[in-house]
Amino acid sequence: MTTIEDVKIIELPRFLDARGNLSFIEQNNQIPFEIKRTYWIYDVPGGEQRGGHAFVKNQEVIIALSGSFDVLVNDGKRSKRFNLNRSYYAIYIPSGLWRKLESFSTNSVALEFGSEPYDTADYVRDYDTFLELKLNETL
Ligand code: TYD
Repeated sequence: MTTIEDVKIIELPRFLDARGNLSFIEQNNQIPFEIKRTYWIYDVPGGEQRGGHAFVKNQEVIIALSGSFDVLVNDGKRSKRFNLNRSYYAIYIPSGLWRKLESFSTNSVALEFGSEPYDTADYVRDYDTFLELKLNETL
């Protein structure tokens, strides 16, 4: 049973350089899982939201590569809002939590790494179903 206490902000390595800064991630190092998938969300119109759902198995790490947005995480009992606005911070979200991205700034880019390949069966898209699964301790 995961809770919002399991969500972590990870500070990534930073190489500050007059030519431009550099940060990086490696699987099983800065990211606590093997990366099976990478995707990104961009060109988000003002006021839109993405990703209102939970994953059964997929763990993820999200980085605001550009701009800023909020990540809302909910474990069925409590919720927490994280504002991502620097490309050297990542948020780790384990499986079994409801998560939503919103308040995207203009030209923001959300980079996401997943521990699983894309699988529609891994999604819980109905919030009431999510609450029931958390209540039964099956998620
Ligand atoms: P989805 O995860 O439903 O986005 P959101 O929850 O933010 O609305 O993904 C939207 C569509 O993109 C979905 O119909 C299938 C496709 N998709 C893939 O093919 N592979 C992926 O890894 C992801 C994340 C989405």
